[in-house]
Formats: sequence, structure tokens, C-alpha cells
Amino acid sequence: MFENISKDKIYKNLFNGKWIDAKNKNVIEIYSPSNDTLIGKLQALSKEEVDEVFKNANIAQKTWAETPVNERAKILHKAADLLEENADELSKILSAEISKDLDSSLSEVIRTADFIRFTADEGMHLEGETIGSDNFPGFKKNKVSLVTRVPLGVVLAISPFNYPVNLSASKIAPALIGGNSVVLKPPTNGAISALHLAEIFNAAGLPAGVLNTVTGKGSEIGDYLVTHKLVNFINFTGSTEVGKHIAKISEMVPMLMELGGKDAAIVLPDADLEEAASNIVSGAYGYSGQRCTAVKRVLVLDEVADKLTNLIAEKVNKLKVGKPEDGGKITPLINNKSADYVQELIDDAINKGAKLIAGNKREKNLVYPTLFDHVTTDMRLAWEEPFGPVLPIIRVKNIDEAIKISNESEYGLQASIFTKNMDDAFYIAGKLEVGTVQINNKPERGPDHFPFQGVKSSGIGSQGIRYSIEAMTRLKAVVLNLAK
Ligand code: NAP
Ligand code: G3P
Repeated sequence: MFENISKDKIYKNLFNGKWIDAKNKNVIEIYSPSNDTLIGKLQALSKEEVDEVFKNANIAQKTWAETPVNERAKILHKAADLLEENADELSKILSAEISKDLDSSLSEVIRTADFIRFTADEGMHLEGETIGSDNFPGFKKNKVSLVTRVPLGVVLAISPFNYPVNLSASKIAPALIGGNSVVLKPPTNGAISALHLAEIFNAAGLPAGVLNTVTGKGSEIGDYLVTHKLVNFINFTGSTEVGKHIAKISEMVPMLMELGGKDAAIVLPDADLEEAASNIVSGAYGYSGQRCTAVKRVLVLDEVADKLTNLIAEKVNKLKVGKPEDGGKITPLINNKSADYVQELIDDAINKGAKLIAGNKREKNLVYPTLFDHVTTDMRLAWEEPFGPVLPIIRVKNIDEAIKISNESEYGLQASIFTKNMDDAFYIAGKLEVGTVQINNKPERGPDHFPFQGVKSSGIGSQGIRYSIEAMTRLKAVVLNLAK
């Protein structure tokens, strides 16, 4: 079903219901991170072309907003079905494009179909309310406020490389069910998969112009997109650096931002250490650590630190390293620059005396799973987000020291606490400055109808199916004033 998107592997953009060639001939070559082969070319749209995209989205939105929600929901259900039917093909494209292992690529696509279906159903149950006037002092019963939810207009959706299908759909579907049109700016690495997702929505019967795509490098076209006068909402997932930049330059445009993290796993002496170690390893090393919710530091109480470190090390040593096509779970990072950055953090930790337990081996952008014990707070690894397969263990004397170090981070996405003592768990959870605390589980976004939000430098606003729909709609009140 994807034959319209590519012409000699120069991927087109979806504009007004059709896949079109850009007028300018600027292209960006996309290479597979795992084997360096050219897998496609993207068009770099010009500012004039971007203007056309937004004008078109703005016009299409007016009709879409009038389309009954149940009809919008039917289209989303159809999109979810098509996504599932094409899951094998799409997950292979995804795996080749961002070097994600095959199982995780397939589960990203299936999770996305579930997300779209749930969004369609949730949208059908978003209801307004009526508010009487007489409960406010000095007012009689003669006024009624009829409160409904209305769309915002054109949503600019910007997604990151690590979940180009899921984190595009998690913006598109709630925006659409709320009656908005969407302009999708996919990540450059990940765009091919995201464009396939756009075709799924298009083939499901979305009216022309309700979803358009814009490819091009964020560093070149990004500022123009986020400051465009026809953007009514920005829904961004990506790095804190780019997120802060967007927040600075955009003018009074509401936004939802999911940014970086430095999630801590706090392990208490009474925890099931075997269970904690399994969670920590899958949390830290899944997709080679390229998840905002990856476990990015362990804060363990001294008395169980040796035992926990041994259990983690055993599991790290069993992780299969290699290309996704060879069944690798620790796969090459998205590019060499990312691997260089991870190496810098590793070198800094070694130079400052951290104890290397596993890893510190590299073949180009393939970084072997690396584990450090005795990391201290003067090391960069204690604070910076590697976005790669390296995990620092920091030993602490007591619960309050763990809370202190966790909260000293500039980030505040999630944290995990491993313990059997719920009094301790709730004491710590109450003090942690994060969006979500997981008790006896690794940090994670799902299930996708749970609220998901970062505080401090980790984000603005809450996503999660209902919360995302609410963020991309607004209340509108019509007040009925009766004579009596
Ligand atoms: P990124 O470099 O910030 O890029 C994210 C998106 O923003 C890409 O589509 C990128 O386009 C675009 N972009 C770049 N510069 C822009 C600009 N000036 N204006 C508008 N858009 C611009 O992040 P990434 O490397 O893809 O993802 C890794 C980071 O994202 C990590 O820090 C991670 O923690 C964070 N992340 C957070 C969450 C979360 O939910 N909290 C989820 C996933 C990832 P190009 O690709 O063309 O540069
Ligand atoms: O990095 C993407 C972020 O949204 C995390 O999702 O499902 O891996 O916890 P997940």
C-alpha cells in the first residue's frame, strides 16, 4: 500500500491528500545506522512550501472540525486496522532506519495501533458540562454556562528519532479526534517510517489537508515551523536543548513538550534484588538506552550495593550485542556523534575513578553495554543523559541521600523505587520531583492512557490519551441568560 510515497526512493510529502514532489530539489540522504547503506532520500522543503502546507492545513481544519466525532473515530479505527495489517512491513522499515531491534520495532507498531484505537474511543466519550450560577455568592439560578471542548486549529507535531511511528501517532491521533488538523515534522532519522504512518492515515480516508507532512532538517527549517503564524499548538518530543529553544522563540503558542530525563532507580535493602536487577537492566539497556524513560542511574543503599551490582553485571554480560538484522538487542546508536558523546561520559567516569564493571568497548556507533559502580557526584555520568547503553551505580548511605541526589538533577521525568516497604515507598515517592514514580517497576510511559509528564527540564504539560486530547482542545463556554 505504500507505493505512492517513494519515487526512486526520494520520499515525497503528503500535501492535501496527495504525495507530491517538492518544487525545490534539495534532498537529504538517509543511511541505515547499522550498516551505513543508503536507504532513501528526503526532500528538504523550502519556506515557501511550508507556507503552502500551513495554509492548506488551516483551511482543511475548518471542515474537519465540523465532521461528527463518530466519523472521525471511524477513520482512526480504520487507520489502526491498516497499521496492524502492515505491521510486519513497517517494522522492518523502522528497524532498518533507526537500528531498533526487530521485536521492539514490531511492538512499537502494534502499540501504536492500540493507541489509535483507544484514542478514537476516548474521543467519543469526551463530554462537556453545564454549570449553574446560583452556587456563586450574589447570583440567582438564571444563568447556565454550557461548556464544551473545541479544537485549537493547526497542530504542529514534531517527533524524535527513537519512536518515529509511536511518538508521531501519539500526537496525530489525539489532535485529529479533537478536530484539529496536523502538520507532522518527523525526525530526519525516522522520517521514512513516519511518512509510512502518514500514508496509513491517508489511506484510512482522512480528508485532504487534515494531515500534511514536512520533511527537512530541524536545524534548518525548525525555527520557521515553530514560529509560523498559522500554528495553533506545538506538540514536541525531543531533547531538552531543542525544547527550550522552541519555548523561547515561539510567541504565546500553547505547547506540550516531552524532553530529556535522568530517571533514577532507587533500591532499598529489603527489595527483591533479583527483580530489581532485571527491571534495571531492561530499563537501562532497552533500545540501547535511547529512551527518555531509560534507567539512567541507580541509587542503591550501601548494604546491598555489592549484591545488586553483581546481579546487574550478570544480566548485562548476557545482553546480545549486534545489528538488528543479526538479532542484536544492543544495537548501533543512531549516529557516530551520539556514540562519541557516550564515550566522553565513559572516559570522564574512568578518569575520575569510577569502577568499570562491564563494557567500555566500541565499534564505530556500536557501543557495548557499559556498567559502572562507585560513580560519584563529581562525574558527568551522575547528571548527564547519555542516550546510550551506559549505566552508573551510585552508592548512598540512606534514603534521604537517595532523594537528595535524585532531586538535584535538572530533569524530572520518572523515578523507580524498589522495596517491599510501602511506608518507605510512599515517603520517597512524596518527596521526588518527577512526573511519575514507579514502585517496583522500571520507568516507562505505558500503558498509554496513563498520564505521562516531565517536570523541570523534562517537559511541559501532560500527555497520555485523554490528557493529550484535552491539551489539544480548549473549553468553550456559551452562557444562557434567562429572564427569570
Ligand atoms: P532532537 O534532536 O531534539 O530532535 C527532536 C525533533 O526536533 C526532530 O524531529 C528534530 O528534527 C526536530 N528539531 C531539531 N531542531 C529543531 C528546531 N530548531 N525546531 C523545531 N524542531 C527541531 O531529539 P532526538 O535526538 O530526536 O531525541 C533524543 C532526545 O529526545 C533525548 O534527549 C530524549 O530524552 C528526548 N526524548 C524525550 C521523550 C519524552 O517523552 N520525554 C521521548 C523521546 C525522546 P531533525 O531530526 O531533522 O533534527
Ligand atoms: O523515549 C520515548 C518515551 O516516550 C518513552 O517511552 O514506552 O519507552 O517508556 P517508553
